[in-house]
Amino acid sequence: MSDYIASSLAQYNELYKRSVDSPEAFWGSFAREEFVWRTSWDNVLSYDLHKPHIEWFTGGKLNITENCIDRHLAEKAHETAILFEPNNPDEEHLAISYKELSEHVNRTANMLKSIGVNKGDRVCIYMPMIPELAYAVLACARIGAIHSVVFAGFSAQSLADRINDASCAFVLTADGGYRGSKITALKDIVDEALQKCDCVTRVVVNRRTGSKIAMHDGLDVWWHEAIEGQSTVCAPEVMDAEDVLFILYTSGSTGKPKGMVHTCGGYMVYANYTFRSVFQYQPGDVYWCTADIGWITGHSYIVYGPLSAGATTLMFEGIPSYPNADRFWQVVEKHSVNIFYTAPTAIRSLALCDINLVNKCDLTSLKTLGTVGEPINEEAWEWYNDHIGKNNCPIVDTWWQTETGGIMISPLSGITETIPTFATLPLPGIQPVLMDEAGNEIAELEAEGRLCIGHPWPGMARTIYGDHQRFKDTYYSSFPGKYFTGDGAKRDSNGNYRITGRVDDIVIVSGHNLGTAEIENAINQHPLVSESAVVGYPHAIKGNAICAFVNLTVPSKDAEKLTNEIMNLVATIVGPIAKPERIQVCSALPKTRSGKIMRRILRKIAAGERSDFGDISTLLNPECVADIVAQTATM
Ligand code: WT7
Repeated sequence: MSDYIASSLAQYNELYKRSVDSPEAFWGSFAREEFVWRTSWDNVLSYDLHKPHIEWFTGGKLNITENCIDRHLAEKAHETAILFEPNNPDEEHLAISYKELSEHVNRTANMLKSIGVNKGDRVCIYMPMIPELAYAVLACARIGAIHSVVFAGFSAQSLADRINDASCAFVLTADGGYRGSKITALKDIVDEALQKCDCVTRVVVNRRTGSKIAMHDGLDVWWHEAIEGQSTVCAPEVMDAEDVLFILYTSGSTGKPKGMVHTCGGYMVYANYTFRSVFQYQPGDVYWCTADIGWITGHSYIVYGPLSAGATTLMFEGIPSYPNADRFWQVVEKHSVNIFYTAPTAIRSLALCDINLVNKCDLTSLKTLGTVGEPINEEAWEWYNDHIGKNNCPIVDTWWQTETGGIMISPLSGITETIPTFATLPLPGIQPVLMDEAGNEIAELEAEGRLCIGHPWPGMARTIYGDHQRFKDTYYSSFPGKYFTGDGAKRDSNGNYRITGRVDDIVIVSGHNLGTAEIENAINQHPLVSESAVVGYPHAIKGNAICAFVNLTVPSKDAEKLTNEIMNLVATIVGPIAKPERIQVCSALPKTRSGKIMRRILRKIAAGERSDFGDISTLLNPECVADIVAQTATM
């Protein structure tokens, strides 16, 4: 029990007020009381959001793995830290105790040292959802190396871009990854990526699928060979609170992904605080977040948040539909999961399946349900509530971002009154504000505007790796002195927030954050394409789908062939998750007089609107709108 984790609405209100009145006292006391520090800090917070310059717990020294592992060994050595549920339900699951986790992480840390990884080095981790992925992440943190996990669904090109951006000298991967009935050829993809990377000196390959792969002398080493004989003892590197813990890439509005930088002290404090506050985790609970560790959700709510809280965190290797669409519910039953956290897109697709697949499973262990990644529509919310929660489990609709490090606006389970489609109230310590288009803060409670955060919080990203100017331009320039989220939101008369979606050039498809520019760059590489414009449009299951409007240099003779080629190009360059749902050839793209493509109009056309595009007279080529409508109608 902590005085800083609300356990009633009255306490939430009291904590919220305290956190706003004196943020430094609030975070300082929580950080001091709840974590192991080697040295205390000089300053809780120093900042200037105009630069922006942000430091938390300056001068404090710690190691996050000491907080996630070592400190639990006295009382929880034999309790389960990680429950691993494999892709194949016939393969036995693993219950990894805190003591075993400690040994695995230390051996992995020593393995990294043995291949030359030093404090501050960047290590790219491109692995399937197996326990070794969690060990690798924690092993980096243990020795002060900076991990950059790249989701194992990304293409060779995307992987190469991310390896190069952070000049990673080391890559950790596997021979393959199970995904339902398929195997992802991870090592082959690494080999292809490394054709374009000069910085990598060592690749460590974990054997998972037994797939036939090429091992290159002097570069590749097998994990099981490199870890052989390594000691289970590895002293944690003492880190400054503001040393970099990890880099994690997220899409941006140019084609180049942004390497968000999170630091040791603030991130640890915030991941732990939000995990405990939102999910109200109690000792003995089994907690399951279905995300992949390749996303921030997995970093904060599979690894660092739960483990720092001494929780049991379930790690699932598979997919919701394998071997059948009841897999999630089978796993809940099998492990008596108490807290279940997933994405709206998964809920929407599972809601379409035979309801008997749900009803035949025993879901009575569930206490709390969560969602993250995109707005959840009312229908999906109600289905989740009725059929999974049996009207008995609070749903926490958690709004946050890769950039925020942890949950920002969300109900606290069992405490905050939930409202379908609302992320509800900010956590104590978080000060959201709504801004109008003129850049003024909206004072009225009931309002709609652009969502900003007015005061620093410990989990916030500190910079974009190697590009502080871009960090400033993207997040701190639209509304000087405030962090701009890129989202729009509505606020009701009780102060509850409802996130309405992105107001920039990012589209969220099945919970994946995709930059339209990155996809356009890929499409433009097709020899027949002169220009393209990618927009999102509402999709029943994915939330949004991608429609690509393309303008050709010469007419295509075979439309189907062209469509397939463009789809494959996007899949290879960006990754399969970015494949457009629709490709629409058009004779011209609507442009402003300054040459900027008017996506607003294309978004409307993609969403099925055929008229009412507002004032298009300011366009350079207004006549093309009618043409595009006509061409689209024939689809
Ligand atoms: C964007 C951030 C946060 C981890 C997963 C995604 C959207 C996220 C919600 C929610 C409405 C949401 C926002 C945000 N988003 N959670 N509960 N309700 N929208 O992280 O890839 O950095 O994407 O996801 O648009 O800006 P991400």
